Amino acid sequence: MKTLWVRASPKEEHSLSSALAEAFLQAAPSAAVGDVERFSVWSEEMLVFGREAAFAKFAPLYGERRTPEQKQVWSDVLAEIDRVRQFDRLVISSPMWNWHVPHALKAWIDIIVQPMASFTVNERGEHVGTLGAGKPVQLILTRSSAYDGNRADLQDFQRPYLEYVFTMLGYTVETLVVEPTTRWTAEERAQMREAALETARRAGAGLAGGAG
Ligand SMILES: Cc1cc2nc3c(=O)[nH]c(=O)nc-3n(C[C@H](O)[C@H](O)[C@H](O)COP(=O)(O)O)c2cc1C
Repeated sequence: MKTLWVRASPKEEHSLSSALAEAFLQAAPSAAVGDVERFSVWSEEMLVFGREAAFAKFAPLYGERRTPEQKQVWSDVLAEIDRVRQFDRLVISSPMWNWHVPHALKAWIDIIVQPMASFTVNERGEHVGTLGAGKPVQLILTRSSAYDGNRADLQDFQRPYLEYVFTMLGYTVETLVVEPTTRWTAEERAQMREAALETARRAGAGLAGGAG
């Protein structure tokens, strides 16, 4: 049993979404999460999906041969997908940044979402995820404001985007949202944080003993 925790906040020990994920994982039955590998999408070792990768992605569709450089980057892309496939469960913690996810998380998603390698299409041309194989992914999301539908000027592209992508990849998605996280006094902030940590602990403790 192995869990991959993907951290999208660069704030390390000052991050609320990371603290919530930590509380979630610590409260979870060990049989449900097993060994937890932590992975920050801000790691400098993360592959950069740039020009050569973009050409490599479409070369086979266009009947073109990949250059040696494109072959190398494509084998790195496939290696990252294979790494993710080894895990039985994913936990993804992320703040909202400009109504969406931080660019570093989007950059990682651009690596792992690949036709044939992580999803395919059925006879009706619809996407069918193969990476997730029904495995669970827990999203733990924070944002400053409340996206409760009461204000037309506040549009949430963070939650629907992540739920869409990971469902598309074949995962079973659960979402925990903590909002609004901005409070004006230190006391209110501490209260909000404690209540949010308790919610995360309860969600973790509620996981069934084994994934799936
Ligand atoms: C660059 C940046 C952009 C942000 N954009 C939004 C936003 O569009 N909407 C929102 O409600 N909060 C926004 N926030 C606030 C964060 O989502 C919020 O503070 C969150 O709780 C931070 O989580 P973290 O401590 O895990 O990083 C933004 C924060 C940063 C640093």
